[in-house]
Amino acid sequence: MHQHLRRFRLLLAAAISSFGMSSALAADADHGADLAKRWCASCHVVATGQTQASADVPSFASVARRPDFSPERLAFFLLDPHPKMPNFPLSRTEAGDIAAYIGSLRR
Ligand code: HEC
Repeated sequence: MHQHLRRFRLLLAAAISSFGMSSALAADADHGADLAKRWCASCHVVATGQTQASADVPSFASVARRPDFSPERLAFFLLDPHPKMPNFPLSRTEAGDIAAYIGSLRR
């Protein structure tokens, strides 16, 4: 657990220096929405109006509303997925796009 947190901080530091704000701002949320529907909708509620998903998986809208949410952090989470989630062949750009899409659900 501790180890995991440490690794996360390192990733976060790398995110700030190499990935940075600007590429997250340049991310394409519409493309992210397409990717999310293709890759994530079997488990997550990806968009409002979706009726089927797994019961114990957080919806993207609820992920976006968390107080500690940030697209940069999410993009890095997606590059190093949670063990319960299958491994996705997401590129940095794709992870950034999905994060931008989820960020857009905040409003
Ligand atoms: C096979 C089912 C499955 C698929 C497909 C899936 N997820 Fe998940 N995801 C889960 C589960 C289960 C959790 C909850 C993990 C937990 O809380 O232990 C989760 C949690 C998350 C979380 C929240 C992590 C947190 O901080 O609690 C995010 C963000 C997320 N998934 C994003 C995605 C994205 C983006 C995709 C598509 C690229 C995706 N997931 C595809 C099953 C899936």
